[in-house]
Amino acid sequence: MKPFFERFSGTGYICAHRGARSIAPENTLMALEKARNGGADLWETDVQVTADGELVLFHDYTLERTTDVAGCPEFVDRRPWNLADFTLAELQQLDAGSWFLQADPFGTIATGEVPEGDFSTISKQRIPLLRDVLDDCRKYDFPVNLEIKDQTGTAADVTIVEQILNLIKTTATEHLVLLSSFNHNYLRQVKQFNRTIATAVLVEKKHPQDLLRYLCDLDVDAYHPDQLITAATLVHQLTAAGIVVNLWTVNDIERAQYFAAAGATFICTDWPQRLFVASHS
Ligand code: G3P
Ligand code: MG
Repeated sequence: MKPFFERFSGTGYICAHRGARSIAPENTLMALEKARNGGADLWETDVQVTADGELVLFHDYTLERTTDVAGCPEFVDRRPWNLADFTLAELQQLDAGSWFLQADPFGTIATGEVPEGDFSTISKQRIPLLRDVLDDCRKYDFPVNLEIKDQTGTAADVTIVEQILNLIKTTATEHLVLLSSFNHNYLRQVKQFNRTIATAVLVEKKHPQDLLRYLCDLDVDAYHPDQLITAATLVHQLTAAGIVVNLWTVNDIERAQYFAAAGATFICTDWPQRLFVASHS
C-alpha cells in the first residue's frame, strides 16, 4: 500500500471537493481551512501552470467565473482570460473571493450558512500557489488529492508532472499527496519518476474498456469515476482486485453511504460540513 493510503484503512472518508466550496470560494486557502476544520478527512484541488511556469490552484481554464478579471481595466484586452496567458504576478492581483458573495453558487449566503463574519475573509482570497498549499498540508498533516489539469496545447504539458513531483519532494509531502488526472499519460509519467507517489485515474463519461487491465497497465493505485456512471458492483469488483475506488461528486448523504458500504475509500463532496456525519467505518 502506498504511504498516502496507509491512514485510510476504512471506507467512506470525506474529501472536500475544491475545498469546502459550498461555504468558501473554491480552491482557495480559505476553502482548505474550512475543509480541515469542518469535518473533511482530506481535500481535492486542481493544479495548473501560469504563463511564467508557476504551479497554482485553479479549476477553470479561463479566469472570469471565479475572479474579478472581467472588471479589471488593465486586463480588458486579454479576453478570453486564459489562465495560461497570465503571469503569477498578474494572477495575484486578482480577487478570487468576491465572486462567491455575488454569485452565491450554493445558496449558503442567502441561508446564512456562511456567517457575515466570513465575508471580509472571503473577499480577500487570492489564487494560491501550490507550494503554499503543500506547506499548509504538511503543517496540519492534512492529505490532498491534487488533480493535474490537462495542459495539452501549452508548453507546460511536458513539464507539469516533473514540476509537481519536485515540489512534493521539496515540501516533504510524499505521504500526503494523491495525484489524479483525466490525462492518464500524466499518471504514467508519475510512476516513471517515482513509484511511491499514489495515483488515480479520473473518468467522467464512461469506463475504459477492459477496466482492470487498463488500470493495472497504468500502474495506478486508485480509480476515480464520476459517481453518475458507477454502481456498487463495480466498486466491489475493483476493491476486491486491490484497486482503491473513490467517487466524485457526491452531495447526497444516502448516496455517500451507498458507496461507503460498497467499499469506496473516500467520497468527494461539495458539502463536507454536512456529509461528514456519514463517517467512515
Ligand atoms: O477529482 C474529481 C473532480 O474534481 C473532477 O472534476 O471538474 O471538479 O475538477 P472537476
Ligand atoms: Mg478537480
